[in-house]
Amino acid sequence: MRVVILNDAQQVATTGKDIFIQQLADKPDSVLGLATGSTPVALYQQLICAGQKGEVSFSQATTFNLDEYLGLASDHPQSYRHFMQKQLFDHIDIQANNTHVPDGSTDSAVQACEDYEHSIANSGGIDLQLLGLGRNGHIGFNEPSSSLGSRTRVKTLTQETIKDNARFFKQGEFQPKLSLTMGIETIMQARKILLLATGSDKAEAVRAMVEGAISASCPASILQMHRNAIVVLDRDAAQQLDRLEFYLFVEQENAKLAAQQPASWPG
Ligand code: F6R
Repeated sequence: MRVVILNDAQQVATTGKDIFIQQLADKPDSVLGLATGSTPVALYQQLICAGQKGEVSFSQATTFNLDEYLGLASDHPQSYRHFMQKQLFDHIDIQANNTHVPDGSTDSAVQACEDYEHSIANSGGIDLQLLGLGRNGHIGFNEPSSSLGSRTRVKTLTQETIKDNARFFKQGEFQPKLSLTMGIETIMQARKILLLATGSDKAEAVRAMVEGAISASCPASILQMHRNAIVVLDRDAAQQLDRLEFYLFVEQENAKLAAQQPASWPG
């Protein structure tokens, strides 16, 4: 796992944007795994700007979102499909048919989850998966105690996650407690993984993910097993890391190496 620590959330977004642009330059028909939540919003804004300047094109790309609330139709203002349309898809040159978000309005959730897995496989698998990090260490909606070998399925949200996400819902508005989410193994099969975390409220989860034992108690800790995972943090999110100085030193050395030879994705 490569750990990159930057000064602030804006730099985190810029680094994420550069990684996406590079991915699409290397493989214009990339399959991208996308996330919702607050963290990727700045990255999506930068990608929209880059698209407007002609620095990136999504015209051949395919996307799969991590998760969706079960019980919300795609046009519901709090659905993740709606979020993605507003925050990214409506503003880039992606083909609508190539964007996928689990169907939260399905009557047969089990089938919908199986179909989602098949669609990912039929697309050739995810080249680059973007992740945020829950304060409880979740990735997608794989809450603590999720099977590390899980595939796309229905998951009940923890009280903590329901509380964290309540900020997106109006008072009294129906807030789902169930979700459809890619499983942990589904995520781990992505060829590259990029996790972004910012802010001090993520610091504990970041420490468990990067330096804790690999455990279903912190689902994100499984990323330690991925060969091409990069975790990009701001200083606040990194503040509880024991080896913070070491990660900074490694990146300094990486920068020197990169000046001498073409950059490669980290191992
Ligand atoms: C969103 C998702 C979640 C979020 C996580 C962090 O699609 O899968 O795992 O990435 O809850 O959310 P924010 O970024 O709002 O702190």
